[in-house]
Amino acid sequence: MMQGCKATVFDLERAWDGAKLKAVAAEAGYTDKALAKTLAITCPHEQQDIEVVFRRVRINNPYNILVRLFRLGRAVPQSELQKILPGLDLETLTAVGLLQHGDGQIRSTVKLTPFYDLLLASDFEPPARREMPADHVLGVGAASVTLAGLTVRRPVETALDLGAGAGIQAFLAARHSQRVLGTDTNERALNFARFNARLNDIEGLEWRQGSLYEPADKQRFDLIVSNPPYVISPESRFVFRDAHLPGDQISEQVIRGTGRYLNEGGFACILFNWHHRSEDDWATRPLSWVGESSCDSWLLRFSCEEPLAYAAEWLGDYEGKDSPDYGRHLDEWMSYYQDMRIERISAGAIIMRRRKGQRNWSRFDAIETARGIGSSSDQIERIFAIEDLLETLAEERELLDFRFHFDEHHRLEHRLTVEDGRWVVCEEHLHASEGIPFAGKVDMYIAQLLAGCDGRRSLRELIAEGAQRAGTDPETMIPAFLKVIRKLMRSGFLRLVK
Ligand SMILES: C[S@@+](CC[C@H](N)C(=O)[O-])C[C@H]1O[C@@H](n2cnc3c(N)ncnc32)[C@H](O)[C@@H]1O
Repeated sequence: MMQGCKATVFDLERAWDGAKLKAVAAEAGYTDKALAKTLAITCPHEQQDIEVVFRRVRINNPYNILVRLFRLGRAVPQSELQKILPGLDLETLTAVGLLQHGDGQIRSTVKLTPFYDLLLASDFEPPARREMPADHVLGVGAASVTLAGLTVRRPVETALDLGAGAGIQAFLAARHSQRVLGTDTNERALNFARFNARLNDIEGLEWRQGSLYEPADKQRFDLIVSNPPYVISPESRFVFRDAHLPGDQISEQVIRGTGRYLNEGGFACILFNWHHRSEDDWATRPLSWVGESSCDSWLLRFSCEEPLAYAAEWLGDYEGKDSPDYGRHLDEWMSYYQDMRIERISAGAIIMRRRKGQRNWSRFDAIETARGIGSSSDQIERIFAIEDLLETLAEERELLDFRFHFDEHHRLEHRLTVEDGRWVVCEEHLHASEGIPFAGKVDMYIAQLLAGCDGRRSLRELIAEGAQRAGTDPETMIPAFLKVIRKLMRSGFLRLVK
C-alpha cells in the first residue's frame, strides 16, 4: 500500500545500482533542458501550474512518464511503467525507498531534478508551502544556483559544504576536490545526500551531522561553500530557512569561522543575508566579521530591502498571502525587527581567501541582481589577482609597466544614432558575457586599447600607440586612461600577465 505522507528516508544499507536509474532517465531524455521546456521555466526551482504541465505530458512515453512520476508526483499505472520503461527495477527502487506501489499504481516518494548531468532527489513540495514539515529537504533553488556560480573551482584537496542539504554544492565541489565533507543538522538531508551520491556515482564524499563548523572538528579546507539558513525572522519553522539563532548570527558565525577552517590560499564562498541601519552602511557589519580571519574579502550585494518588503517576500513564499495567518505573521516579523532596530536587510555573498601574514584587502560591490550569475570562477580569480596587484602599488602609474590580456568573455556593444543622414556611434558599452554582470561605458580610445591587450605589450606601449594614432602626447592621455583602466581591471575585464 502507498504510505500517504510519511516522510521519506532511504534505506542506504540496501545495494542498488544508482547509475542504472540515471541511465534510464538520460535515455528517456529526462534532462534539465527538456524539463525546463516542458515546465516553461528558466530555473529548476520556479513554480509552475502542475495541472497545465500534467496535461502536456499525458501521452504515455518514457519521458512523459518520468515527468509525471518524478516531477509532478503523480501515480502511474505499474503495468504502463513496466511496459514503457522496462529498464526501471521497480522492486529494488521500492525497497530502497524511492518508489511506493499499491492498487496497481506506482508513485515516487521524492522529486528527482536533473541539474546539468546530476540527478538530485529532494522532497516534493505540498501545494501550500506552509504545510512543509520542519525537516523538509530542499531541491535545487535559486540560491543553490547562485552559489554554484560564485564558487571558485580550482583543483584542490579538501572542500567543506556547510549546510549541504541534498548535496548539490558538495557534488559540484567533488569535481575539483579530492575529498569533500558535507555537513548538516538535518539527518534527513544527509540521508538524501548519501542517496544522491549513490545515484550519481560520486565518490570522495563524507557526510557528518552537526551544527556550523562543529562536525569539521580541527580539520582545515582549501574550499568552503555554504548556503546556510540565513533568513532573518523570529521564526524557527523550517530547518533549511531558519537558523535557531537571532538576527543574522548564523551568517556572522559562518563568516567568522572561515579564518579558522581555511587553509592558506583557500577560498570560502558564502551566501547570506544581513541587517543594517541605513541605505549606505550595508558593507560595514559583514566586513567587520571578516576581522581577524587573515582573509582578503569581496562582498557582493544583490538586493537591499526595507524590513516590511523583506518579510512580505519571505512570508508570501512560505506562508502564502492567501493564508489567514499572513497578517499576524507580518506583525510578528515587524515587531521583531523593531526590537532589534533593524532598518534594512541586504542579501548577497562574500568570497574570502586566506592570506596570512600580509595586509588583507576588502572590497564591496552592489550588483543589480543575482539572477543569471553563471559560472564566475575565472572572473573571481582574475579579480583577486588584480586586487593583490593594486594592493602592492605605491602609485597608480606603476600600472603602466604591466601587461594584460583582454578576457574573451566580454562583449562591446555599439549604440548608433543618426547624424547628418548617417549612422554614428553614440555609445560604446562593454559588458561581461558570463559570470558576475559587470558593465561599463567606454570610448573608442579605451575600446581600441583593450583590443590591443594581447599580453605582449605593456599599458605604456599601448597608450603610446593610441596617442600616436590620435596625434597627441601620451602624457596628456595617461591620467584619464589609468582611471578607466583601473576600473575595468577591478571588474575583471583584464587578466594580469605574470
Ligand atoms: C538553504 S539550505 C542549502 C542546501 C544546499 N547546500 C544548497 O545550496 O541548495 C540550508 C541547509 O543548512 C542546513 N542547516 C540548518 N542549520 C544548520 C546549522 N546550524 N549548521 C549546519 N547546517 C545547517 C539545513 O538543514 C539545510 O539543509
